[in-house]
Amino acid sequence: MHWLDRVDDQTIGEVHRVVSAVVEIGGAVGWLEVPTLADIGQWLGEWHGAATTGRAGLALCRVNGQVQAVGGWQAGREGPLGHVVQLSKIMVHPDARGLGLGRTVVDALIERADDFGAELLTLGVRGNNHGARALYESCGFQTWGVLPNGVAVGDDRFDDVRMCRQLGLPTNTVIHGSTAGGLGGSPLRPASRVTVDSGTTAGPDTVATIDSRWTL
Ligand SMILES: CC(C)(COP(=O)(O)OP(=O)(O)OC[C@H]1O[C@@H](n2cnc3c(N)ncnc32)[C@H](O)[C@@H]1OP(=O)(O)O)[C@@H](O)C(=O)NCCC(=O)NCCS
Repeated sequence: MHWLDRVDDQTIGEVHRVVSAVVEIGGAVGWLEVPTLADIGQWLGEWHGAATTGRAGLALCRVNGQVQAVGGWQAGREGPLGHVVQLSKIMVHPDARGLGLGRTVVDALIERADDFGAELLTLGVRGNNHGARALYESCGFQTWGVLPNGVAVGDDRFDDVRMCRQLGLPTNTVIHGSTAGGLGGSPLRPASRVTVDSGTTAGPDTVATIDSRWTL
């Protein structure tokens, strides 16, 4: 496994070979049309720039010296989401599938993210991409949500399946989940009678349509 550390013509060509083969057969990796070499050069430049911050990296899996699989990790911006790492662009050349390269890439990304200090991994996968979902499940991910119709390809709509995997938490971590209270919390208003402007009679139908400003 190698990590993108330069963007030269050879790397651009090798990655373009993989991405274009995946996209040509309809792979769900973010390109609707086969990218040009220049597109891939720019894309790799962005990954390279992100990698220099230490908060991202692009894995290049070579077999017999040739890139056959890629995948990226990127941490959220420093702050409340800085401990969450997103995995993306995981793909294997069609001629090299079923050999364990997908798992090798995902495992390498998990290890890198763990070394970085990530606590939580996340990724999105198209609902009908059952093979990729099986790969992620076999690597310890579970589905935490589904955005119905979240992926649009022309007239077609697919679910955007969100998956996650918890990594280690610092020893002093206090888990609040969604319990009420604490910083950033907001209490619910107490339930009370609804009043409306004089002249209006508040019946059941009225209450149902009253703007929340009228709820005391
Ligand atoms: C998804 C993808 C990366 C898998 O790569 P791969 O190298 O063939 O996967 P691996 O050989 O490492 O498979 C590892 C495990 O994943 C699961 N898996 C992978 N593909 C599977 C499939 N089509 N059906 C069922 N399980 C599958 C299996 O559990 C497998 O373990 P096993 O071989 O012991 O059964 C590859 O098919 C691909 O590039 N697809 C197109 C791009 C894409 O959709 N990427 C994901 C974007 S979110």
